[in-house]
Amino acid sequence: MYTINWGDLTVETFLRDYWQQKPLLIRNAFPSLEPVISSDELAGLSLEEDIESRLIQFKPDSSEYQLERGPLKEEAFANLPESHWTLLVQAVDHYSPEAKALLGAFNFVPNWRIDDLMISYATPGGGVGPHYDNYDVFLIQAEGTRRWELGDIESSQSPRLPDAPVMVLSEFQSRKSFELEPGDMLYLPPQVAHNGIATSEDCVTYSAGFRAPSDAEILRTVSDYIGESLMSEQRFSDAKRLACQSPGEIDQASVNQIEQRLKELLSNRDQLENALGALFSEPKYPDQAESNDPNTYQSWLEETNEFGIEIAPNNRLLYLEGDQFKLFCNGEQIDLDEFDIALAKQLADQSYLSAEEFNLEDSDLLKSLFLSGVVQ
Ligand code: SIN
Ligand code: CO
Repeated sequence: MYTINWGDLTVETFLRDYWQQKPLLIRNAFPSLEPVISSDELAGLSLEEDIESRLIQFKPDSSEYQLERGPLKEEAFANLPESHWTLLVQAVDHYSPEAKALLGAFNFVPNWRIDDLMISYATPGGGVGPHYDNYDVFLIQAEGTRRWELGDIESSQSPRLPDAPVMVLSEFQSRKSFELEPGDMLYLPPQVAHNGIATSEDCVTYSAGFRAPSDAEILRTVSDYIGESLMSEQRFSDAKRLACQSPGEIDQASVNQIEQRLKELLSNRDQLENALGALFSEPKYPDQAESNDPNTYQSWLEETNEFGIEIAPNNRLLYLEGDQFKLFCNGEQIDLDEFDIALAKQLADQSYLSAEEFNLEDSDLLKSLFLSGVVQ
């Protein structure tokens, strides 16, 4: 269990005064933080096929950035200089139970807002360059030291280095800078320009990254979802239309009528919930879903009586409680019996269940979650 040492603040004051609003440096946020993974293991992850990683080198002579995407080859590490490079591995919480536990420290925001724990390893001078992200991030210094420079609020209109393989702001101005020591944490809201430069050997930084659906994504998902439930006979209709005077015109009355109809179609709360449940529960890597062999269910159940169960990496289980309880998993709504609701809620909230708390054998829900590889 990891908990944040907020110092003079509390979660409530952080959410009220900083979250989505302004940066915050918290010294000693994680006192005596032990590495969740060794640097060798991190490098090992970057060699694997399905793991998202990047190796970024900065060339001080030409001020150019070079990017190599994983899976990396072992030789890539043999030929590196002593400084000015960084390795970044995404979603380490999928591969390390400790990393997953660390993300649990941020459960004061709902799971659907949390993306992953990225870990970077850098040599002196290493970093990804000045940039901004569209999401909130908590940057936890785990090993070594790093200087963070913070700039202005940026957007997709801000000038960036042309032809660079990574997004680098070309007019970055450092307004504030801090040197982070192990255990320190910097919170950044979306769009704040930042530049993190390793100031020691073996600089390791953990980024607890969040996500927020764009308006465009929500609109497309919800409208697709509603669109699929409509019949082709449901169409624009203009019975008793008045004779038109200007055949070339799309008349305002028709536009008004369509505007009204769109509002009616979009105001279906049940469909909105279903669309959002499907969207928010999409796994980070949808192509990496793995199901379980039905023959292993019984022996698995026996083991769970000892160890309990947890949500397997890369699976998202979320619920919604409106007029009725709805459960969503990996982009789909799941039907469930009334008596499985308590189990579903605890599993979604805490991502684990102990056998003492629930009778795991009786649950149809659990069986279907096991078969589709959602629990382990
Ligand atoms: C890092 O270099 O560890 C973090 C990169 C970032 O600022 O997004
Ligand atoms: Co960033």
